[in-house]
Amino acid sequence: MKTAIYPGSFDPVTNGHLDIIKRSSAIFDKLIVAVSVNRSKTPLFTVQERIELIQRVTKDIQNIEVVTFDGLLADYAKQREASVIVKGLRAVTDFEYEFQMALMNKNLNPETETLFMATSQNYSFLSSSVVKEIGALGGNLEGLVPNEIMNEIKMKLK
Ligand code: COA
Repeated sequence: MKTAIYPGSFDPVTNGHLDIIKRSSAIFDKLIVAVSVNRSKTPLFTVQERIELIQRVTKDIQNIEVVTFDGLLADYAKQREASVIVKGLRAVTDFEYEFQMALMNKNLNPETETLFMATSQNYSFLSSSVVKEIGALGGNLEGLVPNEIMNEIKMKLK
């Protein structure tokens, strides 16, 4: 069984993340969506809230599991016997940082490969921070986040 892991802060999950989740879950037997406890960021949503939002927008995808992890991604991938880490690349500017992380993760856990998936063009400008900024300033979030969680995001930003 081929298991992949898609890590991120997902604060909150956006249509860009969902695009990667849908496309990568179609490639692997199992996809673990792993919500990071990222100490360098101050999240808007708690880890539990972020997990619930992802679960809600992925309820029709059978082969995914949404979890949280703390510590090194390379260790968590090993613990879960995930042979692939999936990362979305939005633009060339993502590459250098992602390349560094991929090499470091490979160094820490040689059994796990990083697979870069090109984000669909519509979402190449998207990030969770952009969503939060637009929402906080009363902008339209349509097309940026899944419809079923849009209100919850707006409420949180009020
Ligand atoms: N569509 C839309 N937005 C996307 C996206 C996509 N396909 N892919 C990434 N983004 C956004 C994210 O929402 C995030 O936005 P934000 O900065 O506004 O929150 C931004 O792009 C950066 O994404 P990413 O680089 O994946 O950062 P992240 O904070 O979501 O996740 C981890 C980073 C969790 C993968 C990384 O910190 C990690 O592996 N941590 C574990 C600790 C560890 O192992 N450290 C050593 C690494 S070598």
